[in-house]
Amino acid sequence: MRRLFLFLGKGGVGKTTSSVSLSYFLADKGYKVFLFSVDPAHNLSDVTGVDLGKKRNVYKGLDALEVDVSGYVEKFLKDTIRKMKKLYKQLSIAGIDSMIDSMKLSPGMEETAVLYAIQELVEIESGNYDYLVVDTPPTGLTLRILALPKLNLDWINVLRMWRLKILSRRRMVAGIKEDAFGRDVPLEEAEDKVLGELGEHSRKMRMMWDLFADPVRCKKMLVVNQDKLSVEEGRRIKNSLKGLGMDLSFVILNKWSTSEALDVKEAFGGLRLFEVPFISGKSQLDREDLLKLASGWAPEVLS
Ligand SMILES: Nc1ncnc2c1ncn2[C@@H]1O[C@H](COP(=O)(O)OP(=O)(O)O)[C@@H](O)[C@H]1O
Ligand SMILES: [Mg+2]
Repeated sequence: MRRLFLFLGKGGVGKTTSSVSLSYFLADKGYKVFLFSVDPAHNLSDVTGVDLGKKRNVYKGLDALEVDVSGYVEKFLKDTIRKMKKLYKQLSIAGIDSMIDSMKLSPGMEETAVLYAIQELVEIESGNYDYLVVDTPPTGLTLRILALPKLNLDWINVLRMWRLKILSRRRMVAGIKEDAFGRDVPLEEAEDKVLGELGEHSRKMRMMWDLFADPVRCKKMLVVNQDKLSVEEGRRIKNSLKGLGMDLSFVILNKWSTSEALDVKEAFGGLRLFEVPFISGKSQLDREDLLKLASGWAPEVLS
């Protein structure tokens, strides 16, 4: 994989349109492209005209998929509980399975599941495609997904320290009383499944943090329209990304009319701005329209 593209911006500005346009453009140039939506309210199937409940070929080398986000939340919870039950036998007694339904709705669950879905797809598919394009959910969710790897890494480090302390105490006790623990209670780091599990999560989160924070491998494109609200939201997105140590790569001024253009130099000064015209008189844009829209800016984002 050469690059991952993410689109940010207020609802309705043209994130899905831009991600599909870019994907068509890249496929047209002969690249292998994987476009996937992690927006719980998908519309890639509507835009491409192909049912994307499963990964399907859409056009030339372009394959697309709508990730079943709520199915992924359930899968993520079940996998986690299954692993936890193996590590902590008392969880079965506490009746943890009956809590799945309420856990599905807990804060942070959706972004965690989406992050692990992106991680899994990047890991599985990056060897198969030149470019990965993500059709993102609304701004708040996308920003939290970008912030999560670092947050998770910090937590994993704290848990790792605690676990190392527990193992060291166990070794101390075993040094005094040799048979203090059963055979299946690990004393050494290398045998400890909890540390192994933390290590695996740490690997995944580091992989995503490295990818998201890399300005070359991960392009973060802001889409705004000719209205103050979308520009103001764009400004907040730019600042939030800065707070995460990330930068916007480009700004797409979508549905833009040069004659009555809003001045966005002050909001996005220093960033490369691309003006994309509004295609009028169509209830839905077709592939030719979308290819035309991308032709003005897509070549630039590859260099
Ligand atoms: N440049 C454009 N010209 C004409 N219509 C556009 C353009 N960009 C987006 N649209 C239309 O605007 C609507 C919202 O776009 P969409 O890509 O779904 O936004 P988002 O994903 O940001 O919510 C769609 O109906 C889309 O066809
Ligand atoms: Mg969309």
